[in-house]
Amino acid sequence: MSISIEKYKDSYFLEVLNLFNENSEFDFFTEELLENKLNGDPRWNPETTLVAKIDAKIIAFMQGVEQTIRGVNYGFIKLMIVSKELRRQHIATKMYLQLENYFREKKTDIVRFYDTPLNYYMPGIDPKYTPAVCFVQKLGFKKFEDSFNMTVSLEQDFSVENELKFLEKEAIEVKRAEENEKEELLNFAKEEWELWQNEIKEAYKNEPIAVHIAKLEGKIKAFSLHSANNKGLAWFGPMGTHADMRGKGIGSILLKLCLQDLKNQGYKTAIIPWVAPTAFYSHYVGAQITRVFWRYKKELN
Ligand SMILES: CC(C)(COP(=O)(O)OP(=O)(O)OC[C@H]1O[C@@H](n2cnc3c(N)ncnc32)[C@H](O)[C@@H]1OP(=O)(O)O)[C@@H](O)C(=O)NCCC(=O)NCCS
Repeated sequence: MSISIEKYKDSYFLEVLNLFNENSEFDFFTEELLENKLNGDPRWNPETTLVAKIDAKIIAFMQGVEQTIRGVNYGFIKLMIVSKELRRQHIATKMYLQLENYFREKKTDIVRFYDTPLNYYMPGIDPKYTPAVCFVQKLGFKKFEDSFNMTVSLEQDFSVENELKFLEKEAIEVKRAEENEKEELLNFAKEEWELWQNEIKEAYKNEPIAVHIAKLEGKIKAFSLHSANNKGLAWFGPMGTHADMRGKGIGSILLKLCLQDLKNQGYKTAIIPWVAPTAFYSHYVGAQITRVFWRYKKELN
């Protein structure tokens, strides 16, 4: 049996989609979702996206992306899958080592698995995928943190009329963002949340624009958005409120406006991914932690 590893081509898309759906134990990809993870990622690079083949049949896939964050060069393995009946034959290891060599040549400092900002499928490895945990440990990766997603029921009342009246008294306007506010929002977010620029741009592509903002004296001070990443999975976030404006209930209103949008689209639940303020989401909308991920890294330099 001869296995070849080669670079991904667009013509492989449907075969790779089937490979994921026939071999992922706990997840499912739509065309839209996989497209979003591949070409939809601004860091998309066919040089670091590999398939393994036996004759003409694709039997494995691994995608790498690179990004410099605060002066550190990261390489990420963002997605990987090996056909079930061909596991434990070091196919994924060979693909990984090819990418690791590429990352080393590019002076990558750290490699991580799955938790790639901007455009990610999962913020780490879900330990239910136990072979994946064994695999990264064998490659010398060390676990450094947990991350988690929350799930929120959309079968609840998200009306915010009373809260909005209170904010009006403070001259704070809350509204759906408009096209002519995009530049201001990108600049506002850049100061504290530079890594969220791509998600803002993606959320703006929805109809209606999937972004809500709060303004004080005509200036944007807070935002929330949805459907920027993992479209079709009712994906909330990110959101942010300027430090001077916290504690006024703005965040909870912006959160509820996004959840109402998703409810209007017919979803029954939404995902609040890669959460930091657990208590905030638990308190205001009864969100629950439903999926935990382990984050792994390996230093190359
Ligand atoms: C994780 C995955 C890509 C590994 O692919 P693979 O080609 O089978 O991996 P390899 O053969 O290169 O394994 C390398 C090493 O990893 C470890 N390993 C891999 N699978 C293992 C398993 N099921 N049990 C124990 N160790 C395992 C072993 O140490 C193995 O080396 P060894 O066989 O010499 O002992 C594959 O299991 C897979 O496709 N899983 C589903 C996708 C997935 O988990 N994605 C992550 C979602 S968060």
